[in-house]
Amino acid sequence: MSELVNFPQISEIPDDLRSCIPLHQREYLVNGELKSWNGEVQEVYSPVYFKSGDSYNNLIGSYPFMGAKESLEALDAAVNAFDKGKGEWPKMSVAGRIDCMRNFASELKKRRSAIVNLLMLEIGKTRKDSETEVDRTVDYILDTIEALKELDRNSSKFTITQGVIAQVRRAPLGVTLCMGPFNYPLNETYTTLIPALIMGCTVIFKPPKLGVLLHQPILEAFQKSFPKGVVNTVYGDGKSVITPLMQSGQIDVLAFIGSSHVADTLKKLHPKPHRLRSLLGLEAKNPAIILPDADLTVAVNECTEGALSYNGQRCTALKIIFVHESVADKFLDLFNKKIAALKCGMPWDEGVNITPLPEDNKSDYLNSLVQDAVSKGAKIINDGGGRFDKSFFYPTVLYPVNQTMKAYHEEQFGPVIPVLSFKDISEPLAYIEDSNYGQQASIFGSDTTFLSNLLDTLVNQVCRVNLNSKCQRGPDVLPFTGRKDSAEGTLSVSDALRGFSIRTLVAVKDTDLNKQIVSDILKDRKSTFLNTDFIL
Ligand code: G3H
Repeated sequence: MSELVNFPQISEIPDDLRSCIPLHQREYLVNGELKSWNGEVQEVYSPVYFKSGDSYNNLIGSYPFMGAKESLEALDAAVNAFDKGKGEWPKMSVAGRIDCMRNFASELKKRRSAIVNLLMLEIGKTRKDSETEVDRTVDYILDTIEALKELDRNSSKFTITQGVIAQVRRAPLGVTLCMGPFNYPLNETYTTLIPALIMGCTVIFKPPKLGVLLHQPILEAFQKSFPKGVVNTVYGDGKSVITPLMQSGQIDVLAFIGSSHVADTLKKLHPKPHRLRSLLGLEAKNPAIILPDADLTVAVNECTEGALSYNGQRCTALKIIFVHESVADKFLDLFNKKIAALKCGMPWDEGVNITPLPEDNKSDYLNSLVQDAVSKGAKIINDGGGRFDKSFFYPTVLYPVNQTMKAYHEEQFGPVIPVLSFKDISEPLAYIEDSNYGQQASIFGSDTTFLSNLLDTLVNQVCRVNLNSKCQRGPDVLPFTGRKDSAEGTLSVSDALRGFSIRTLVAVKDTDLNKQIVSDILKDRKSTFLNTDFIL
């Protein structure tokens, strides 16, 4: 058997990457200070195994492994910076917060190449996708600034009704705990952290278990851009560092992207759950449905990208494919050819598509899904499917899959693609209705009457129906959410601003004295809340 993928010697990797490691991070940001850590550390291993003689070494660094004490120190800093709404940050003008955020965006841009290199090394994301992740995050910040200006402009007016004059604006919710996922450790963490900050919340930020070191170059950018205590970091095992935060009852917003099981556990730790606002991005198993009249070239291209970009490690990935029996053979033939043309390699290899997986024992898990399906009658139908070597797993198409198999139900989050054929549309619909998930679906076809009927049904089961295209989150101005176990709350550039804030208003009875008071406050710009400033 030919070698599946060539794990390199450390001397063979590009210089810019080699010079980043080992990175032994010893600093953490609390209360505006970059403190130095002397305690226990967590070692970081790359999904890329570096050949060293006859063995391999993939240790690339380490980071502070904190405990409850440090976590509560971060909480204190965030609570004090919010100061029950009296803090500098929550009381700062919107224009002032926008200036800080703009400064942060430019600091982030300066660190682009360091972050890109660490994304490749820590989570095995291709160079192209790593660059996109950083650029998309900078764009997200700039779009968020524009969305806040728009929101603020719309709130600059007064409402006069039934003898009451009022100005309605949005005010920050308070102390926010932000935790993102390993697959988009920068982007998805920041799609909650940025709106939370810009709305005036103070933040405790815990990087995901994988994808930690890439945040190290950004600590100084946070420190430079925001008042002390507004951004604080904690590192370590979730149970030890997150449990005391939630149990304190002082977390006002939980922004978490991960599993529903962990989200439920965290929410239950809060002593007054009704006080906790949660914004959650959770599991999904988005299906593709290929109808008899689909353009198969489009369907194959979109399903390949949908199922295999970043090796299928996207919450929006296509994780099961239903293909009409009349076109199943043709679809599978084209699909297999397309997969065979994908380039396997290391994240920095030019034009690479499939790369090593960062999660511990992931190949064993994916192999167990494959073996389970094969033992129950499915076949591996693509050349080379089912092979793996350490952290590298070759894309594997399983057909025909049925409901007795784990691959039919479980969110594989990797390059295993379960496919089944159907006779009648009621079959994939039953799958979607019975599923625990309700994020998105992709449908491929061209009969507008049939498609209309299908999408009218699907919009009541999922939160985005993609016509003749893969599932995806972007563009980030569109709402991103899900039903059932897939999400709580909605994230988009503008929705997220609402997620971390609450409407609050100043109201006065329409009397001469009150009108005079309001006019004086406005004229002399005495209040940051009650004002008619129009931010350009
Ligand atoms: O992991 C889930 C991400 O939100 C997916 O984003 O569709 O842009 O890859 P994406």
